[in-house]
Amino acid sequence: MRSQLALKAVTLAATAIAVAVFTSLPATTQSSDTSEAESAVPYVLPKSGPFNPEDIKIENNQAITDWYRSSHADQAAEAFRHWDADEKITPVCSVCHSGEGFRAFHGLDGSAPGIPTEPIQTGGVVDCGTCHNAGLSEIKEVAFPSGLMHPVQGVEAACMTCHQGRTAGSDVVKAVADMDVDTPNPELRFINPHYATAAATWLGGYGGAGFHYEDKTYSGRFFHARPVSSCNSCHEPHTLEVSFEPCLTCHEGDSPEDIRISRHSYDGTGNTEVGIKSDIEGNAARLLDMIRDYGAEVAGVPIIYEGHQYPYFFADANGDGVIDQNEGKSVAYNAWTPRMLRVTYNWKLVTADPGSFAHNPPYVLELLHDSIEDLADPLAVDMDELNLLR
Ligand code: HEC
Ligand code: HEC
Ligand code: HEC
Ligand code: HEC
Ligand code: HEC
Repeated sequence: MRSQLALKAVTLAATAIAVAVFTSLPATTQSSDTSEAESAVPYVLPKSGPFNPEDIKIENNQAITDWYRSSHADQAAEAFRHWDADEKITPVCSVCHSGEGFRAFHGLDGSAPGIPTEPIQTGGVVDCGTCHNAGLSEIKEVAFPSGLMHPVQGVEAACMTCHQGRTAGSDVVKAVADMDVDTPNPELRFINPHYATAAATWLGGYGGAGFHYEDKTYSGRFFHARPVSSCNSCHEPHTLEVSFEPCLTCHEGDSPEDIRISRHSYDGTGNTEVGIKSDIEGNAARLLDMIRDYGAEVAGVPIIYEGHQYPYFFADANGDGVIDQNEGKSVAYNAWTPRMLRVTYNWKLVTADPGSFAHNPPYVLELLHDSIEDLADPLAVDMDELNLLR
């Protein structure tokens, strides 16, 4: 018993110091009967050390421990270390890559709202004060890359700001305007929707993240069902994990990946015994295959996708299956046609969100279907034979 207690104290002391580095929290009053983060008991660190476990309110213990193990607190992650060499985070990046930048962006630190005017010191993470901030409830809408102003409530403002991605389908439309659809254009570069774009997927066609084909309509926000209508109804806000039990009120299966409601197969396999995620993955894999075929057969330069290396798509001019090198550097893909750019953009957007099957399955299935259809024509693939469903 004694040793257990002592161990607990040591862990806590360690986390307390870690938290001390990252946070500056305004104190707010306690309230237990509301689910909004800004009214939850915030962890307020004493102004100066030493930081003793006794100083930390019991109710914060669990939250701190959970958060500390989550990726929001993972100081070692590329998402927080990328700027180490400069020791300063570029203002526009800091909005989503540090609590301090986030607060500056929304004017929660007393500054005028907007992109911070100065670079932000590295070393920050998504700290307590990012979500536990009285000012958060004052934010009534969040701007999306498409220009959409989406109304938000409470802590949703935080998730929606950082998990919205950085591009919209309209950026692709602009980039390829007035170009011949199948002619490589040296001015084109891959447009990367960025990462963990859950909120963009969630808002679907209404959010405008995907490249939309003119003659099609797209499903909007995925309303799902009332008990699961916000980020935190599925994600525990500190561990960030999704617990499966609540899903079982309405769904069957052994995991979220197993869940399926649709009686139709979207990926041409006819298999409806698997989760809807399987259809999405099937069509995403098919689209990537077709992108490769298109590169070799139509654009004239084979393309290689390498998910661990920016900008992800590389040239393989001699078709030997190895990324071309120029003075020791991988050669970024250099034969983009408008058609290839738009389908590749949609493919990356869908696959940049590992939870897309739960965030908005109809929308991502539509984007994949239409992109496959787009490539079928120049590749002389018979869409009917693929037997896909939109
Ligand atoms: C990504 C946003 C986010 C971050 C970061 C965050 N919280 Fe929370 N926190 C929430 C939300 C949302 C709730 C409300 C949960 C609910 O209603 O079930 C909450 C609830 C709480 C509660 C009430 C009890 C509980 O666990 O539900 C405490 C205490 C708390 N947070 C402390 C902290 C501390 C301390 C930190 C930093 C170590 C922190 N939080 C970081 C979003 C966040
Ligand atoms: C709208 C919010 C937002 C903005 C603005 C933003 N990012 Fe990110 N970025 C994210 C999120 C969210 C992730 C987390 C992805 C993950 O690892 O789950 C991320 C991840 C990253 C990663 C890690 C990728 C990996 O492979 O782990 C890098 C590098 C990065 N961003 C660079 C940048 C740079 C550079 C800028 C500014 C030019 C920037 N980001 C601006 C939200 C943003
Ligand atoms: C200040 C920006 C910011 C805010 C606010 C924010 N996140 Fe994040 N989130 C990130 C970044 C950056 C990462 C990736 C961190 C990493 O790679 O370690 C991330 C990671 C995640 C992950 C896990 C991804 C993984 O790879 O494990 C989930 C889930 C998540 N956030 C959900 C949420 C939810 C829900 C909210 C709102 C309660 C929220 N986030 C608020 C920036 C933010
Ligand atoms: C219906 C439940 C549900 C809702 C609502 C929901 N998510 Fe998810 N989310 C999931 C599932 C399931 C996954 C798949 C990964 C997992 O099981 O953790 C996931 C994955 C993610 C990931 C990627 C995690 C990783 O491992 O890389 C992020 C980031 C994320 N969600 C953020 C959000 C944000 C932000 C919102 C609100 C805009 C949101 N989610 C709403 C269920 C949900
Ligand atoms: C209150 C009931 C309810 C709860 C709880 C619920 N869902 Fe759902 N879910 C639905 C309904 C209804 C649909 C169909 C919605 C639609 O198509 O508009 C659905 C659809 C889905 C789909 C798409 C299935 C398909 O074949 O298209 C996935 C994936 C999913 N839910 C995941 C989850 C996860 C993961 C959880 C738990 C974190 C969850 N759901 C909790 C009611 C619920």
